[in-house]
Amino acid sequence: MAGLAGRVAVVTGASSGIGAATARALAAEGAAVALLARRADRVAGLAEDIGTAGGRALALSGDVTDEPGLTAAAERVAGELGRVDCVVANAGLMLLSPFAAGRIDEWRRMVDTNLLGVLLTAHAFLPALREGGGDVVAVSSVAGRKARPTSSVYSATKWALGGWAEALRQELLDDGVRVTLVEPGAVRTELTDHISDPAIREASAARYEAVDALHADDVARAVVYAVSQPPRVSVNELLVRPTRQDY
Ligand SMILES: NC(=O)c1ccc[n+]([C@@H]2O[C@H](COP(=O)([O-])OP(=O)(O)OC[C@H]3O[C@@H](n4cnc5c(N)ncnc54)[C@H](OP(=O)(O)O)[C@@H]3O)[C@@H](O)[C@H]2O)c1
Repeated sequence: MAGLAGRVAVVTGASSGIGAATARALAAEGAAVALLARRADRVAGLAEDIGTAGGRALALSGDVTDEPGLTAAAERVAGELGRVDCVVANAGLMLLSPFAAGRIDEWRRMVDTNLLGVLLTAHAFLPALREGGGDVVAVSSVAGRKARPTSSVYSATKWALGGWAEALRQELLDDGVRVTLVEPGAVRTELTDHISDPAIREASAARYEAVDALHADDVARAVVYAVSQPPRVSVNELLVRPTRQDY
């Protein structure tokens, strides 16, 4: 029997990159997966692929900054897949820019998505997790440990997740809920495509190329590793860099 058979997972940011790869990997291990992102066509396509491969998936179009929408999503998942016992809060944006450029709209989008979106996601599914135990996996970044020029606000959002995750771990340990922070280095995904400054976008893409960036599947395996442990084992932090990444 597959290692995660009988489990129900929710993955945010499942329309591309790490989230899509994680959803596929959890489903391949037997978990039923709910896929949440704003691009409804992408999550519907992924749900269909997972179904064709013999898995079970529910496509949800949604925005992690929309609190009522997340509550409705939690109700729908409970009704259609059963009690959620694994939440992968992965949705995020990396809009790098020099702080002095003052791209305040981009700061807001990152704080709302990378920080508040993770908190709202975890909170929406908390009653289900506390009912019988499970996992909260937050996808942070190496940028939550190492700051670099142009990453000030992105790093601030990811750094904040570290403090939040450790407090949450302590608050929920008696409920059998484990909290895992996954901190990838450079991963080949769409993440850098959204950087609005062309010079920074191109430099980021070149840096990813130079370090032979990870594939999304490499991070998905780390998530599967953490959530597949026996209940007594809590994998609290996983920093996964490309071998050639020096920062
Ligand atoms: N790639 C890297 O090098 C790297 C390194 C370290 C950490 N990370 C982290 O990994 C996570 C996933 O990023 P990725 O690399 O896989 O990039 P990606 O391919 O751009 O994926 C980002 C995902 O987040 C979703 N998303 C963004 N805003 C959202 C919102 N408001 N509500 C719901 N979903 C939203 C996007 O879907 P929609 O646009 O369809 O909503 C997309 O599915 C992020 O938290 C990122 O910070 C990535």
